[in-house]
Amino acid sequence: MENREQVLGLLGTLSESVWSASALSAAVEAGFVEALAAPATAAEIGARTDAPTVLVERVLDVLVALGVVRRTGDRFEATPGLATFQNPNGIDYLKADLRALLLQSGAFNSAAKRRQLEIGWRFTDPEILQAQGTLSKAATEMISKLMVPNLEGLADRLAGPDAALLDVGCGAAGFAISVAEAYPTLKVVGLEPAPAPLAEARRNVEAAGLGDRVEVRNITVQALADKDAFDLAWLPQMFLPRAVFAEGLRTVRAALRPGGWLLTASMGVPGEGLKPALARLRATLWGNTEAPDAEAVLAEVRAAGFEPAMIAPGPPNAIIRPIVGRRPL
Ligand SMILES: C[S@@+](CC[C@H](N)C(=O)[O-])C[C@H]1O[C@@H](n2cnc3c(N)ncnc32)[C@H](O)[C@@H]1O
Repeated sequence: MENREQVLGLLGTLSESVWSASALSAAVEAGFVEALAAPATAAEIGARTDAPTVLVERVLDVLVALGVVRRTGDRFEATPGLATFQNPNGIDYLKADLRALLLQSGAFNSAAKRRQLEIGWRFTDPEILQAQGTLSKAATEMISKLMVPNLEGLADRLAGPDAALLDVGCGAAGFAISVAEAYPTLKVVGLEPAPAPLAEARRNVEAAGLGDRVEVRNITVQALADKDAFDLAWLPQMFLPRAVFAEGLRTVRAALRPGGWLLTASMGVPGEGLKPALARLRATLWGNTEAPDAEAVLAEVRAAGFEPAMIAPGPPNAIIRPIVGRRPL
């Protein structure tokens, strides 16, 4: 940028993005989105959600400008896209996504302000841990739709009587719980070394009534000593320093049954420009300073003795790319 005005212009653009996310988050948190199930005026929504009418109108005008809400006269309604989230799971997902964005980026900034920037996903705030857990539930659908039908032998194994899955770094156990719910005979072992997410995980497993099928162990992946025990293992490369990932590939390979599958992922996007730079920043903040791209992670998976191994198709537009590898039969 050549001059001061350009910098000020950029600040203006950034301010629009942050306030847009805040307005959408407020609409979800305050119940406006649920109240938009049928066309309603700002006064009606304000009465239903106990919010000042004028503020409801201002927030909804922003959502109209963003294209997620429609306005006809003085009535607002959800667009068909937003309407797909107007159910308890959809609302939970929106809340979690926006909380993860606003709280994690807020925490990044407070750490910078305190001069205590650090690498690694080390959150202790229950709201952040729970939000990440809710977002992780989406992985179950992705795995069921995109992985299980395409990875040899996996569908039969996961439906079998002694099906077993390993979830490394299970956090608040959002993924562990949702995958156990999706596969009724599946036993899940989650590894979680950090005390705060461990406590959330144990509470969530108990609340879901899954204590007999989801076990949460207070160990690192490096300390995993199980042999020939799991049909599928999730080893999230982007939350682990490189040396830990390499060691994890070794312990997880031994813990898989012959023919069992490893699922990992990359959040490193090569190249220049904002999207790749932001992806690499987040990958590094989450734990892997090298932010390797999918090809580099695939090479490590192959070198660790997984065969076949490949980059798998993932959800469209996602910056996270899944990589799979099989422990040979
Ligand atoms: C983003 S969280 C996972 C969220 C989780 N999928 C959920 O459903 O809530 C990543 C977790 O990996 C854990 N972790 C970090 N290093 C680890 C290691 N060496 N072994 C196992 N877990 C580790 C962290 O403590 C953190 O809770």
